[in-house]
Amino acid sequence: MQIRRRRFNAALVLSVLLQPVGSTFAATPLVMGFAQVGAESEWRSANTKSIKESAQKNGVILKFTDAQQRQENQVKAIRSFIAQKVDVIAFSPVVESGWETVLREAKAAKIPVIITDRAVNVTDSSLFAAFIGSDFVEEGRRAGTWLLERAKKMPNATVNIVELQGTVGSAPAIDRKAGFEQVIATNPRLKIIRSQTGDFTRAKGKEVMEAFLKSEGKNIQVLYAHNDDMALGAIQAIEEVGLRPGVDILVISVDGVKGAFEAMVAGKINVTVECNPLLGAQLMQTALDIHAGKAVPRRITIAERVFPAESAAQELPNRKYY
Ligand code: AHR
Repeated sequence: MQIRRRRFNAALVLSVLLQPVGSTFAATPLVMGFAQVGAESEWRSANTKSIKESAQKNGVILKFTDAQQRQENQVKAIRSFIAQKVDVIAFSPVVESGWETVLREAKAAKIPVIITDRAVNVTDSSLFAAFIGSDFVEEGRRAGTWLLERAKKMPNATVNIVELQGTVGSAPAIDRKAGFEQVIATNPRLKIIRSQTGDFTRAKGKEVMEAFLKSEGKNIQVLYAHNDDMALGAIQAIEEVGLRPGVDILVISVDGVKGAFEAMVAGKINVTVECNPLLGAQLMQTALDIHAGKAVPRRITIAERVFPAESAAQELPNRKYY
């Protein structure tokens, strides 16, 4: 009697162990649709590389699109991810507003959305599961704080600043401007005399700086660029009119890409406020956790530093990106 019962149990165990692969016991890889902003800057290239490498490392199947800095392309990409029934959608929004409709479509399809890098401006916070990115207002404040200190050593009664803004309507352009203005407002000597978008690109940064130099001549003491690529383009424009970037015109920038560190070593950029593009690992972990039904933090902020030119030579070999 006892022997018969043991034989029965062994058969049951065997039948469980021999379940075919692909049955409900086997894990399937997570499929993520990622709608990238574009390839406008060194920062963006590093961000894309980080996302692609981290997806591979985590066994995530990545469907990647490049929106070429156009919101309508991102909306199309997100709709296509919904139609393909991906497990998770992630994107770095070109601009802050205009996302409600497509995010509602993703929610109706029960596909969780993770926002990375740039924030969205939506009234219903349930439209996305998490936001991973920098504090852009703080970056602007850090740039302003560096100038406040530096201005103490400047003899000028008024310190004239020209500003190269990022893409119009984008979170980093809005926030970096706001943070910078908030801090410099505490010193009436500091004045923004011209402010225009350079769309986060080197070519536009150069073009707009040329226009600033043409209209203001030698009346500019400081350039505040919302990213390193625009600062690097502007440096060329400054040199072309026979002025010395970093000396005749102080250059304050944001990102911390390798090109900016090289320019700091050469004395052409005075400070860069770090904006870390290596978001891939956190993005993949958050997506896997959401897929596994785990709770994730709604806001993941990245720790960043300020690099004045004096620290550049020492820091350059340690830079992980680009
Ligand atoms: O959203 C991050 C910003 O976008 C980076 O500062 C800039 O370089 C990029 O294009």
